[in-house]
Amino acid sequence: MLNQTIISEGICQISKACPCSIVIFGASGDLTRKKLIPALFNLYNNGNIPDNFFLVGSARTKISDEDYQKIVSDILIKNELFAASPKINDFAKRCFYHSGDYGDINSYIELKDKMNSLSTQFKTEGNCVFNLAIPATLYTKVVEMLGKSGLLIRGSNEKPFHRIIIEKPFGRDYNSSVELNSFIDTYASDKQVYRIDHYMGKDTVQNIYVFRYGNSIFEPIWNRNCIDHIQITVAEDIGIGNRAGFYDQAGQMRDMLQNHLMHLLTCIAIEPPVTLSEENLRNEKKKLLRSIRPFNVDNISEDFVLGQYDYGKINNEQVKAYRSETDVPPNSYTETFFATKIFIDNWRWQGVPFYLRSGKRLKSKLSKISIVFKKTPTLIFQDLGISDRLSNVISFNIYPDQGVSLQFQAKIPEQKMCIGTLNMDFSYQREFGSELTSDYNYLILDCMMGDQTLFWRKDNVELSWKLLTPVLEKIENLSEAEKRELVHQYLPGSWGPKASEKFIEKDNRKWINK
Ligand code: BG6
Repeated sequence: MLNQTIISEGICQISKACPCSIVIFGASGDLTRKKLIPALFNLYNNGNIPDNFFLVGSARTKISDEDYQKIVSDILIKNELFAASPKINDFAKRCFYHSGDYGDINSYIELKDKMNSLSTQFKTEGNCVFNLAIPATLYTKVVEMLGKSGLLIRGSNEKPFHRIIIEKPFGRDYNSSVELNSFIDTYASDKQVYRIDHYMGKDTVQNIYVFRYGNSIFEPIWNRNCIDHIQITVAEDIGIGNRAGFYDQAGQMRDMLQNHLMHLLTCIAIEPPVTLSEENLRNEKKKLLRSIRPFNVDNISEDFVLGQYDYGKINNEQVKAYRSETDVPPNSYTETFFATKIFIDNWRWQGVPFYLRSGKRLKSKLSKISIVFKKTPTLIFQDLGISDRLSNVISFNIYPDQGVSLQFQAKIPEQKMCIGTLNMDFSYQREFGSELTSDYNYLILDCMMGDQTLFWRKDNVELSWKLLTPVLEKIENLSEAEKRELVHQYLPGSWGPKASEKFIEKDNRKWINK
């Protein structure tokens, strides 16, 4: 057991949002059911949201307020975290519904009337968050209508505040992200725009900053002098489910690399900011993104391995090939796996490769960052049969076994001299109890509190796209034969295509799979 001392008592106190409302566009979608409603209820249940609060779900389907309240209660009752909570009823009574066409201004005018009367009833002082849990193709329409109807007033970021949360993908390449940002800017200033990436809300990810900047012993070794390479893996065993419409147009690089993995990379690699303030942190992120070496588009396979899952078995269950998933074209070359190597051309990281990989239908759900240190300079254990020099690994485990571990060598007891590799572990679950479920909760609360630190700023989104766009365009313009050669089929339940092993092995390194 760790000896826990809470150093920052003040900050640890629960924050409470001021009176406010939230409108969720895409009220009947998966994101709303699985993430947003539970997150909002969690905040309400914990007292982070005041009684002066209401929620309006909006979508095309016609549903009455009463039916929507029943839907919300059912979602919460079926959630084992909340099933027994006495506050479900109270929360559901604060939920309302508005049906309408996303492109019809009259629908927004009706919504405005409804919001005005609910705002008076719940005394929310006109404060409102608009959460766009809808396909990205609808963002501009909804923002335009919100602006034109007067629901969203540009510059209104306090008393009352009008803020919008948009989900990734923020565009589908560099140009479209610039266009999207500039379109939104007509109706909302950047202070009102919250580009959400739920990886930024994860405790284990935020802990990287605390680990790096709350401990002085790591900084001297956090650079090219001591670190051999860094691996970032975000693997999932699930397939694409019913998301073909989005996924086949996006692929794993747009879905995961441009946002989640790039964010993880910046957490590990940025320079220490002056403070963890919104501006300082996001400025460091910008410096880092600008230092990433452009990919070699003339020879994509030098920097990337792409894959697509074939049919096969996962946990003894037969699963479909990607191309046989509902609504996926049978000749699709969309990648469901990528591995890539990134170099950061700055003083700290020169020459240190960052290997990033992510895929669907892999062996298990695993999100982790491994910092692999250089090997010992000489080999003094040859007589014990150890033929290679040894190294240490610090792992940030995001899923499962959330926490941090340090791998090191130790003498195994009782043997004359026998060496084993052991882990010194910090586990969130062991130290603090239940499994962490925080990502969306914190982020929505931050938006209500007006704190943008854990959201993507528009220049950083654009920089991230700037890196990736030439690669995406090059791939899209390949001939069918070239795509066939580039996108390797892989077995579900594996760690991706064999080419991914070779990709790292040619640098004399190995993927860390647990
Ligand atoms: C989403 C992606 O952003 O993140 C999904 O769109 C992916 O494709 C999901 O499954 C993974 O999130 P987590 O938190 O389960 O690792």
